[in-house]
Amino acid sequence: VKVWIDGRIVNGSEARIPVTDHGLLYGDGIFEGIRISARRVFRLDAHLARLSRSARALALEIPGGLAHARQVVLDTARAFGADQAYVRLIVTRGEGPLGVDPTTCAAPRLLCIVDRLAVYPPELVDRGLDLITSSLRRPPADVLDPNVKSLNYLNNALARLEARQRGADDALLLNAAGAVAEAAVANVFALHGDRLCTPPTTDGALEGITRGTVIEAAPALGLRVQQRTLGRTDLFGADEVFLTGSGAGVAPVRSLDGRTIGAGRPGPLTAKVELAYRERLAWDGVEF
Ligand SMILES: Cc1ncc(COP(=O)(O)O)c(C=O)c1O
Repeated sequence: VKVWIDGRIVNGSEARIPVTDHGLLYGDGIFEGIRISARRVFRLDAHLARLSRSARALALEIPGGLAHARQVVLDTARAFGADQAYVRLIVTRGEGPLGVDPTTCAAPRLLCIVDRLAVYPPELVDRGLDLITSSLRRPPADVLDPNVKSLNYLNNALARLEARQRGADDALLLNAAGAVAEAAVANVFALHGDRLCTPPTTDGALEGITRGTVIEAAPALGLRVQQRTLGRTDLFGADEVFLTGSGAGVAPVRSLDGRTIGAGRPGPLTAKVELAYRERLAWDGVEF
């Protein structure tokens, strides 16, 4: 693990932040998870744009600005050195007294962690994921906006815990209205014939970079993309379902709540979408 902290790149074991950082005390901060492939930081500028939107939503300043954060990512990636890796770029509110008030914090803190890429194990991707519908709901945008990639991931973590405790691989989260939002840390797609459906971000789905990549790749694969509200019924009735995310890649789903989806194994179109994603990984990134 390599970490950029306070202007230096150090090994993970040497990176320390004060316990009074409001990122720790209140989850007051934001992050990005970015994939490195073929010695390129995949769609780095799209990730930075999303980081910038998250920062504005929290009235948080990115220390040194976005161009500096970009350079920090590239420098840390180079220090880690691997062709395949995972970047965690973090901005916290910084140190402050106990008490939730962000105006008491002196300066925001920038951190960049680069580590091995932890994808789903290949045998899991080969058989397809088992999902359960979580009892937790995605919070509405006026409670905790799912489109702000903040350090408040308790909802996601507890949904994943619930899935693990019930013997599943991941959780499907619905929004307050009962429509499909996304998985714990991945977007959801359902294929019906040549229609590739995914919930709109207004239904509680993060505007995923991988999601965007799949949406852009779909027409060339003969698929029509529909961003529309989906219910669990739309997943049960789908030919194929898959998840997308910087960590997950394009991961097939074989069951939901114990019910088989499609043929109960990774489908041919999911494989085509996955291939298109991998092709883009090979070129659409910033070299370091
Ligand atoms: C809640 C949530 N949804 C979806 C995603 C997928 O987004 P991306 O493709 O940008 O990684 C993530 C991040 O990995 C996430 O945290």
